[in-house]
Amino acid sequence: MLEGKRIIVTGSARGMGEASLLAYVQAGAQVVAMDINDEMGEAVVEAANLAGPGHATYQHVDISHKGSVTDSFARAAETLGGLDVLAHPAAIQAGGSASEMGVDDWDQMFAVNVRGTMLTNQAAYQLMKSQGGSIINFGSISGQRAEPSAPAYSAAKGAVHSWTRSAAAAWGAKRIRVNAILPAMATPMYKEAMALMTEDQKEASYWMNHQSIALGEQYGDPLTDLGPVMVFFASEGSRFITGQLIPVDGGQTNTR
Ligand SMILES: NC(=O)c1ccc[n+]([C@@H]2O[C@H](COP(=O)([O-])OP(=O)(O)OC[C@H]3O[C@@H](n4cnc5c(N)ncnc54)[C@H](O)[C@@H]3O)[C@@H](O)[C@H]2O)c1
Repeated sequence: MLEGKRIIVTGSARGMGEASLLAYVQAGAQVVAMDINDEMGEAVVEAANLAGPGHATYQHVDISHKGSVTDSFARAAETLGGLDVLAHPAAIQAGGSASEMGVDDWDQMFAVNVRGTMLTNQAAYQLMKSQGGSIINFGSISGQRAEPSAPAYSAAKGAVHSWTRSAAAAWGAKRIRVNAILPAMATPMYKEAMALMTEDQKEASYWMNHQSIALGEQYGDPLTDLGPVMVFFASEGSRFITGQLIPVDGGQTNTR
């Protein structure tokens, strides 16, 4: 279904980046997978290539650093012979206190999640502007509602939503579409956040998150619940959709 498509996936070493990479290679695409964790990144690419029928290669990137993004995207474009799709799940998550949040923690969250989105999207724009393409960012329900236990993450995801709308409006004339997936998936990020919670926080999380997932009160499986959506947004079937926040969360939220 994606034969001939040239795709970059960030955050490919685990979670939704890994699931996106596997889905793209299974759909026949040519993929450059990028992460800051090289050991896991290489292993995931090896597994994807064993399954085929598409093909992936791995490159290091730190999405928060302009030089790293510029270099890595230039090398990827050489490997792929251009770029049609950027899937951009790479991000960090951290809790914190609204009243005591420090400048360093705030800046780190915005450097990776917001600056990283701007830098990767700009690099993709340069490679897509002559022929069009699809950029798939990752927002969060946390950017749509109060998240008192993770205020910097919530603010950063709100910024990703605004950026996604602005980039879509700015680049639509070049046939570049920019959307953001708002997922709820049982990934390492989710499992690590749960592991750090007290029993009281887990109880609160049940009522705030799980209980509101209409399709079974459970976070999704990235392979089966997200992979096909990533293929759709990389395909021509999504060619008239842009500037949207797309919840893939079992009915947890809506974006009206
Ligand atoms: N898991 C969920 O339910 C959930 C809910 C809402 C939003 N999200 C968002 O979905 C996206 C994917 O989340 P996930 O659960 O798969 O996360 P994850 O933590 O499992 O994977 C994130 C990947 O990004 C990589 N990464 C982190 N910093 C990087 C950097 N500076 N440069 C390059 N790579 C870097 C990590 O090494 C990791 O491989 C994220 O944007 C996250 O905020 C997740």
